[in-house]
Amino acid sequence: MTSSQLPCGVRIRGTGSCVPERVLTNHDLSKMVDTSDEWIVQRTGIRERRICDPAREGTFTMSRDALARALDAAKMKGSDLDLIIVGTVTGEMACPSVATRVGAALGAVPAAAFDIAAACCGFVYAINLADTLIRAGRFRAVGVVGAEALSTITDWADRGTSILFGDAAGAAVLVRDPDPRIGCLYQTMGADGSAWESLYIPRHERDIPEKDRANPITLGNLRMNGKEVFRFAVNKFREVMEDALTQAGLDSQSVGQIICHQSNVRIIEAARERLALPPEKLYINIDKYGNTSAGSVGLCLDELWRAGKIEPERPFVMVAFGGGLTWASGVWRV
Ligand code: COA
Repeated sequence: MTSSQLPCGVRIRGTGSCVPERVLTNHDLSKMVDTSDEWIVQRTGIRERRICDPAREGTFTMSRDALARALDAAKMKGSDLDLIIVGTVTGEMACPSVATRVGAALGAVPAAAFDIAAACCGFVYAINLADTLIRAGRFRAVGVVGAEALSTITDWADRGTSILFGDAAGAAVLVRDPDPRIGCLYQTMGADGSAWESLYIPRHERDIPEKDRANPITLGNLRMNGKEVFRFAVNKFREVMEDALTQAGLDSQSVGQIICHQSNVRIIEAARERLALPPEKLYINIDKYGNTSAGSVGLCLDELWRAGKIEPERPFVMVAFGGGLTWASGVWRV
């Protein structure tokens, strides 16, 4: 057996995040569409979100800056990485991937690099995959990013979606560690493509499902049936959380932080109540950033990590659900 084939663990060495400076409040939105601060806060928990300046910011710049901060925190350089994975559905171009440009910008060439499209599950899919690839002995140091510039694909005249979304990136640097007890203890990733019509971004007329043909749709903009996604998310969040806790032998007392995709505060609260989890274990920052899709879990992880709230030895959970439809969870020990 070579050293790369011996059982190993995975250490999260550092985290980082990036949000644009520009703040768009509910009050600003109420001047753009027929809505109000009161309605948005009550139905979603969102008060404001960050929006890219398209002249100088986007998924690539946020991904680059988030990963640069994670590398700084890890006291590592881009050249230490041998793989970069970016979870996003708002990459600037289909080719090259965001990950390859991030690698070049951070001096990580010739590290392997690719993007994955798993919508709001982008970060959890990417970090689960990174853990698996390191444990398989193929890679030693992986930069993982979840990033989304949803403002670039939002129909600003549609109050059903424009009030929800924001832009952000979250990142983590993972390295191979001799202690096999640390890293991802349990993970799931799933999808049900038969329900894709609940949330999609059409490129061509032919992509638009029959039921939506009567409505005005701008190609390239995100289209969502909020009620359908809401129903799916409430049920799936509870189911995935229950499964993760059971499989990892944890309960509401022994588990550490639960970092869930920030989709809607009502979705998070409904699951929290059903699972009888104490409020201080379910981190919420949707009030400041809105739903940032693949950006959200990495952004929460970075805020908690820097606040010293991820305790060594006490496993924490990451969980997400979103377009596809997709879902994912990971139980981690640091
Ligand atoms: N401001 C004011 N009123 C609004 C509104 C807005 N921004 N959007 C919808 N409304 C109105 C509707 O027209 C409707 O009016 P009516 O009763 O007169 O017909 C009423 O408010 C209720 O609309 P509804 O669509 O039932 O609201 P909701 O409680 O389902 O909330 C979402 C809408 C989008 C906030 C909610 O469905 C949601 O969060 N879904 C999940 C979205 C999600 O997480 N997506 C990402 C994937 S993870």
